[in-house]
Amino acid sequence: MQKAAFGEGEILLAQGDITNQAVDAVVTAANAALAGGGGVDGAVHRAAGPELLQACRAIGGCATGSAAITPAFGLARNGVRHVIHAVGPIWRDGAAGEDALLRGAHDAALKLADVAGCTSIAFPAISTGVYGFPVLRAAPLALAAARDFLQRAPRAVRRILFVLFDAASYRQFEHALDLLAGAPLH
Ligand code: APR
Repeated sequence: MQKAAFGEGEILLAQGDITNQAVDAVVTAANAALAGGGGVDGAVHRAAGPELLQACRAIGGCATGSAAITPAFGLARNGVRHVIHAVGPIWRDGAAGEDALLRGAHDAALKLADVAGCTSIAFPAISTGVYGFPVLRAAPLALAAARDFLQRAPRAVRRILFVLFDAASYRQFEHALDLLAGAPLH
């Protein structure tokens, strides 16, 4: 399914580029140095402009499994107010605490968005690119973090969007959302 209601909010899935989304907060998959990079982080930094890297440098870094928040700079043209820099784990073998760290990065990003009064937030598939976390395992973890967050109302955040860049990741998230919502499989 493409969307499912939980608590007082909903989880939505979309395929595309996260820098084109009209949401209050855009999450990027950052590294612990907050030094910018390729993939989704490169796209977010290009769209936001050089001030974003300056703001990241002022923060100095962020632990793996956590997140940091900055203004959205150039992404404000889409109505975005904040960029949230979530640091997921580098995949090793699945037994090095990767699941808890990925969950932590999502939980921290949602908390920061909520404290900032955001009603909507867009996530990429954190850690599933260069960091090598299998999307089959990441999708249910990411969606469960979003569901658990919405079920602990009241929350400012009501719309949690996952923006998947490629069709294969989109299908994995769709399947995981079916299972999470208890919908019949298709
Ligand atoms: N919009 C949405 N998703 C995107 C976009 C985009 N514009 N560009 C890439 N993606 C997708 C990738 O296809 C992948 O599914 O984001 C997912 C995460 O991939 P990465 O960006 O490689 O992130 P990650 O695996 O968490 O690695 C983080 O990469 O660029 C560096 O600074 C970053 O060091 C950090 C590391």
